[in-house]
Amino acid sequence: MRQTLIAGNWKMNLTVSETEEFFKNFKFRKKENVELLLCPPFTDIPITRFFLERTSVKWGAQDVYPSPKGAFTGEISPSMLKDLGCTYVICGHSERRQILGESDEFVGKKVQAVLKEGLTPILCVGETLEEREAEKTEKRISEEIGAAFSLLKKEEIEKIVIAYEPIWAIGSGRAATAEDAEKISFFIRHTVKEAAGKKAAESVRILYGGSVNADNIADFLKEKDIDGGLIGGASLKPESFLAIYKNA
Ligand code: 13P
Repeated sequence: MRQTLIAGNWKMNLTVSETEEFFKNFKFRKKENVELLLCPPFTDIPITRFFLERTSVKWGAQDVYPSPKGAFTGEISPSMLKDLGCTYVICGHSERRQILGESDEFVGKKVQAVLKEGLTPILCVGETLEEREAEKTEKRISEEIGAAFSLLKKEEIEKIVIAYEPIWAIGSGRAATAEDAEKISFFIRHTVKEAAGKKAAESVRILYGGSVNADNIADFLKEKDIDGGLIGGASLKPESFLAIYKNA
C-alpha cells in the first residue's frame, strides 16, 4: 500500500523571517495515511527543521549537486542535506531544466547521488505545451525517466518518487484533468514496470503537480496511479497548504 505524499515546493520564495511567520500559523491535525513534506529554499532548511523536528512533517530540498564534495562553487551536496535532516530531494524540476539548462543525464546523476546518500529523490518529469500538442508527451517522459533509470539498480528504482508536472499546468491556474494526469501516471508506472519489474511498479509513488489546490486535490487522489501532489503556489501559505492536506 503506497502512502499518500503531499509535498510543498516553495521554489525561490520566503525569507527566514517569512518562514518563521509561516510556521506560527502551521497548525494541523495529523492524518495517519498521508505524509506531509515541505521543500523550502536551502537558506530556510535550518529554521524549517527547528519547527518541524518534533512533528510528523518531513522537510527536504529543491535541488542538489551530484558530487559528495569539492570545488563546485555555490553548490550543495547530498550529505549536506542529509546532515540538515532532509529526507527528500526534488531532482530535475522543469524550472531547472528550462531556465538553468539541466539535461536529462545531469538530472539522472542527481537522482543517483541522492539515493547513494540514503535520501529519496523526487524525479520531476513533464512535457511542454508544444510537446503535448505534437503528441510527444510519452516520448518526452520516457527520455527523462530513461536517463535516470539507466544509472540505477532495480532496488534503487523501487525507492524513488516520480512527480508528473506538465509544464503548461505549472503556475497557470490550469491544472491537467484528473483523467489526463492518470493516463500519464499509468504510463509512468508501466515504464517503471518495464525497467524494474512488478515490485518496483507497485512501490514507486507518482505525484501530480501543476496548479494543485484544495478544490482539486481529491480528484487527483481518486485516480489509481496518482499517490500525491507536488504543490507550488498553494504551499506558500499555511492555510492553503493545510487545506490541501485536509482534503487529501
Ligand atoms: P504550482 O502548484 O504553483 O502550479 O507549481 C507546481 C510546481 O511546479 C511544484 O513543483
